[in-house]
Amino acid sequence: MKKLNSIDLREAYLNFFKSKNHAVIGSASLIPENDPTVLFTTAGMHPLVPYLSGEKHPAGTRLTDVQKCVRTGDIDEVGDASHCTFFEMLGNWSLGDYFKKESISWSYEFLTKVLEIPVEKLAVSVFAGDDDCPRDEESAEIWHSAGIAKDRIFYLPKKNNWWGPAGETGPCGPDTEIFIDSGAAPCSPECSPACNCGKYLEIWNNVFMQFRKTEQGTFEPLKQKNVDTGMGLERTICVLNGHSSVYETDVFAGAIAKLEELSGKTYGSDEQVTKAMRVIADHIRTSTFIIGDENGVVPGNVSQGYILRRLIRRAVRFARSLELPADALVEIAKLYVDQYQNVYPELLKNKDKIVDELSKENERFRKTLEQGLKEFDKVVGYLPPEVKRLSGKAAFRLYDTFGFPIEMTAELCAEKGISVDMKGYEKAFEDHQNTSRAGAEQTFKGGLADHAEATSRLHTATHLMNAGLRKLVNPDIRQRGSNITAERLRFDFNLDRPVTPEEIKAVEDYVNGAIKADVEIKCEEMSVADAKASGAMGVFDSKYGEVVKVYTMGEYSKEICGGPHAKRTGELGHFKIVKEQSSSQGVRRIKAILEY
Ligand code: SER
Repeated sequence: MKKLNSIDLREAYLNFFKSKNHAVIGSASLIPENDPTVLFTTAGMHPLVPYLSGEKHPAGTRLTDVQKCVRTGDIDEVGDASHCTFFEMLGNWSLGDYFKKESISWSYEFLTKVLEIPVEKLAVSVFAGDDDCPRDEESAEIWHSAGIAKDRIFYLPKKNNWWGPAGETGPCGPDTEIFIDSGAAPCSPECSPACNCGKYLEIWNNVFMQFRKTEQGTFEPLKQKNVDTGMGLERTICVLNGHSSVYETDVFAGAIAKLEELSGKTYGSDEQVTKAMRVIADHIRTSTFIIGDENGVVPGNVSQGYILRRLIRRAVRFARSLELPADALVEIAKLYVDQYQNVYPELLKNKDKIVDELSKENERFRKTLEQGLKEFDKVVGYLPPEVKRLSGKAAFRLYDTFGFPIEMTAELCAEKGISVDMKGYEKAFEDHQNTSRAGAEQTFKGGLADHAEATSRLHTATHLMNAGLRKLVNPDIRQRGSNITAERLRFDFNLDRPVTPEEIKAVEDYVNGAIKADVEIKCEEMSVADAKASGAMGVFDSKYGEVVKVYTMGEYSKEICGGPHAKRTGELGHFKIVKEQSSSQGVRRIKAILEY
């Protein structure tokens, strides 16, 4: 076998199909433009769906490319030897041009002549046939006459030998799959490429796309017969070079070496270290491509943004286990930009955005991760030994207060042999959304109308901001009004001029500094006189009873208040002032949010 690296394989593949009159086309965006049923481009054929369905492609009827792909079904499996969330797919297509004969013969030629894979190491599968489509004797015959022994040709059902559609509907058809035999003994007399014992590794899939799956789940013949093939780049170089894991190939070599350098630990030395390095190497590569895509997205709480957030946060958790420096993940992302910029120039174009978004999300989660893990250990520690289940409420608190994606909580639980009450989590999530909506309509009247966690945290942030305004803008500033919803705080105060952008930045820095310091929020009960003597701020004197509560946040703030508040400033996420405006004569109004 030829020990090609990723650069050589891309080139060899495209050149081979160029020599068979294919036009080389560029990779499409990772964010599908015409298919709302999936979040990411999952295969080379995906952006070609309109052309496979009959539209004319400007480059002709024979195409070849390298397509960036993301598959997110197995995020939590990443860390083992084989799973990746991002991969490159080499592909060649016939849009109503050639069909089975050329497709199979060229695959055979490329594998045995260009990659020099010995024919006895190859095995193939073909479609066994059912009501939708007949048994594929034609493909079996072509393989056999090319040189594949009959006992290396396996007939498999739809479950194994049918591909597509990429989303819910669209082009699909029977396929013939190509495997490398690792040489291991068969796991049973029935052992075939259909089983997962590891003997057979799939590297290439040729789909004979003749059908369209409809909304009703039926298969209609397509106007034209197409060929769609896909070869996994990482897997193929892994096999060619005799590696036992894709993480040992050249695509990950730079990232793994950098992780070893930054952590002082060695890949392969210990199961946990190896897993953590694979998770980071994979997730940061995927995140770099998602943010740096021509239609790139940023971390968020829904759809692609949420997947991205999950990937980054899972990487942050594993970075902590390797005791990596704070900016290690950003360093890895930069390394990937350098590594891939020749093939995917959009990464270089979007380098600042990649670095910026990744840094922000990294910082945000690093702040709450430590506290969240403590909270997790505490809650799990309280579980009676016979209860091996985390409550939905506890899981929601980890999400809402510490930014733990539910999948991360489930993974942490699984590591301890406990499960999560997912139904309870969803219920807590819905209840919270309803409370937030209700809270948004209510006003803050000295007490808190909405006692949700989010509101408490914004309330705490209001104290810090109030203190910051007095320290940095004007010592005479006093609260004139406050209104808090689950989404934002609104704070009115006396000042006879606008707050300047520099002052806004300084107040934000002050609050974020307090959050970073992660001080405990102490509550003490005392008489009004003692509270005043202690220097606590208070404005609504007439409202107070004999005994008041004084909330102290280190040196940052001391204020009389009814609460409730967060327990530590570190729970607050990132503080941001989103608006500063006049409220009435001599009164300014600020709106601010906490980002997670
Ligand atoms: N669409 C097929 C696959 O993803 C072949 O490209 O495997």
